[in-house]
Amino acid sequence: MRGLSRSTERATGLFASQEDGRRALAEGRLSFVQGDVTSPSSLPRAVEDVQAVVQAAQFERAPVEDPAHALTYERVDRDGTVNLLHAIAETCRAQAPAGAAARQSAFSSHFLYMSGITVSAEAPEPWNRAKWQAEEAIRGSGLDWTIVRCCWAYGPADKALNRLLGYSDYLPFVPLFGPGRELLTPVFVEDVGRLFVRLVAEADKSRSTLFRLGGPDTVTLDGFLRAALAAMGRRRPLLHIPKALAKSQARLLQHLPGRPLTPDAVDFVTQGGAVETPDRELIADRFPGFSPTALSDGLEAYLRRDRSGPHMPRYLA
Ligand SMILES: NC(=O)c1ccc[n+]([C@@H]2O[C@H](COP(=O)([O-])OP(=O)(O)OC[C@H]3O[C@@H](n4cnc5c(N)ncnc54)[C@H](OP(=O)(O)O)[C@@H]3O)[C@@H](O)[C@H]2O)c1
Repeated sequence: MRGLSRSTERATGLFASQEDGRRALAEGRLSFVQGDVTSPSSLPRAVEDVQAVVQAAQFERAPVEDPAHALTYERVDRDGTVNLLHAIAETCRAQAPAGAAARQSAFSSHFLYMSGITVSAEAPEPWNRAKWQAEEAIRGSGLDWTIVRCCWAYGPADKALNRLLGYSDYLPFVPLFGPGRELLTPVFVEDVGRLFVRLVAEADKSRSTLFRLGGPDTVTLDGFLRAALAAMGRRRPLLHIPKALAKSQARLLQHLPGRPLTPDAVDFVTQGGAVETPDRELIADRFPGFSPTALSDGLEAYLRRDRSGPHMPRYLA
């Protein structure tokens, strides 16, 4: 497995700090190549000679976009995806012998994309529009493709849930935007990894397919937070900040250095997003044995253990 990172040193250090990652690096099952999806010239060597490419890059501090520093969904999701598709096509063409075989070879890669559960052709929000455009570029690329529209993926490195839970370290309540009634089917991050492993390994079952991935439990945002607090052995009242008030504050805050908050980010965190029975059945039918972790088990698996160090997904083992 080859990982693309803007800092191979940082990425290697992160994986080397955990037993599974250390073993994968030592045994040559994992390596990193320096690159940036917004920099086309850095991509050909990343995609060279690979069976499959998984695009799951996201800019820092998403969903707070920062156009002045090119940290936007358009730049990283849409343009980054298009840049990767071009790099694959170019690399395959350069390596293939001339003629019909060249065309065949140029389109032999499998491209997998981590999209979002709220994406659709009509959804106008910047993240949904950019991801829809990325999906369209993938579907039109001529490569084998698989798209996963994923629900909220929670786990040790999930900034959104862990930020909210972090408030309970020093506040007697947990503040959140909106009414907390949005429906969610949060999925444990290890399940996302396990599914992608199968999508790549069993490509005949995943090609030209859009999957919607969520966890087995449908909860409100309030229910999600309460379950996470319970896994930590804590009880805190939830303080709902009306969305209109949060957005009016965000309209001011977006002009401060570092853009602490934007109105779009408030919309993002209050949008909800859940899978339905047919979505679950499609994955279960194609990938027997794949059974997403129950919410209580997933939350306990990481919230009950030491939260201080980086965590290594078990699918690398
Ligand atoms: N988290 C969720 O709940 C969730 C739900 C649905 C869909 N998604 C989608 O899943 C994808 C991954 O999300 P995430 O939450 O895992 O993001 P994340 O934790 O912020 O990780 C994003 C990764 O992208 C890399 N990256 C950032 N900018 C890059 C660039 N310009 N070029 C190459 N790599 C870059 C970073 O690696 P380096 O720093 O090493 O370069 C980082 O490891 C995104 O498309 C997101 O929209 C996430």
